[in-house]
Amino acid sequence: MADTSLMDKLVSLCKRRGFVFQSSEIYGGLGSVWDYGPLGVELKKNVKDRWWNAMVHARDDIEGLDAAILMHPKVWEASGHVAGFTDPLVDCRQCKNRFRADDPKIKGTPGQPDAQCPVCGTRGSLTEPRMFNLMFKTFMGPVEDSAAVVYLRPETAQGIYVNYLNVLQSSRQRIPFGIAQIGKAFRNEITPGNFIFRTREFEQMEMQFFVQPGTDQEWFGRWREWRMAWHHSLGLKPARLQWHQHAGSELAHYARAAYDIQYQFPFGWQEIEGIHNRGDFDLSRHQEYSGKKLEYFDQANNQRYLPYIVETSAGADRVALTLLADAYREEQVEGETRVVLGFHPGIAPIKAGVFPLVKKDGMPELATALYHDLRKQLTCFYDDSGAIGRRYRRMDEAGTPYGVTVDGETTTNRTVTIRHRDSMQQERVEVSRVAEYLKQQINAMP
Ligand code: GAP
Repeated sequence: MADTSLMDKLVSLCKRRGFVFQSSEIYGGLGSVWDYGPLGVELKKNVKDRWWNAMVHARDDIEGLDAAILMHPKVWEASGHVAGFTDPLVDCRQCKNRFRADDPKIKGTPGQPDAQCPVCGTRGSLTEPRMFNLMFKTFMGPVEDSAAVVYLRPETAQGIYVNYLNVLQSSRQRIPFGIAQIGKAFRNEITPGNFIFRTREFEQMEMQFFVQPGTDQEWFGRWREWRMAWHHSLGLKPARLQWHQHAGSELAHYARAAYDIQYQFPFGWQEIEGIHNRGDFDLSRHQEYSGKKLEYFDQANNQRYLPYIVETSAGADRVALTLLADAYREEQVEGETRVVLGFHPGIAPIKAGVFPLVKKDGMPELATALYHDLRKQLTCFYDDSGAIGRRYRRMDEAGTPYGVTVDGETTTNRTVTIRHRDSMQQERVEVSRVAEYLKQQINAMP
């Protein structure tokens, strides 16, 4: 059953602690657009860095790319988005609200007298469904006529397809090889929601792997395995991850086969990444619409062909939400509720809090010096206000895995305590070894 209270708690914690804010909040907010605060930006950056490292830096067969958001309008004709990236939409003539035609809250058939608006309850006020394109349109140059229409990209993938020969030739790669990209995408979703799960502006982490036709299913299998392993490596609870295979009508127009990696959110099992065997759909369409040959020449076998593509497509915001939902827990400690974000240390926005036990006896000076040394190597936070227990709790709620406390012993034997967020156990470590100790712990992440 959906646990809406957990989502409410997460949204409130995210605002209170500076993970995520509503966009343009002082003007009443902008529907399903969110801003990342100081902790959220670090969390999402850690997600993107880990993805980039796994996909680009750790492999010889994948190159990076950063294509522009605005592209030639014909790209979206070739990709099928102008004709087919649509949802069926109905309007209520009475209250002017808009719904997807298949919204389960609608009673009756839209367009018929029996249909009832789920917001104002009026019968017969819902229009016939009409197809609504999800791409945001804008105009290039000073004249707002149809010749100048451009779209905000609804996926990053197309920037990779149209650059595939440029990357291939400039990097001297050979098939099989891939191109990876992280970037913003925009969709005018009709039913956005669930916080940062479905938004109108979001970030994708997409990789397109170009293979010889006939080897595509084999690569598809490998990529499925590697991508699931990556999500496990973030420290997510394995029982909350599963595969969902697209069958029949669920398959997108471009896909020969598709699987989603789903996570069990408080609002149910939902997709966080899609892995698709796209065949030669994309390159053959771009070849046709651009009039440019996009074939690959395999010198070794003296063969020309259009490569098939295996795509892995994840949302950085969805992965961030997954990490937040997976990490959130409440515990009873000494009669009080302790809220913890149990992030894996490698993902945590702040790695260590640094605290002088009290603001006297040279402790602040020692703690400040240690903090300045540590922050050159790790993200740290210095806090000297309030009781030490309160300071630990504040860091627990931010997901900080380690607390480093300078106390009375530090001046005599040059050791500090290191408190572990999850076990709340403390151990003494020499001041000179703190950075090394913390880095070892963090790097223990697979
Ligand atoms: N190029 C293929 C593609 O874009 P998709 O299944 O539409 O496929 C891939 O999107 C991923 O992008 C999803 O698994 C999700 O993580 C993310 N995503 C898609 N729409 C989103 C939205 N409105 N808000 C946040 N993330 C979204």
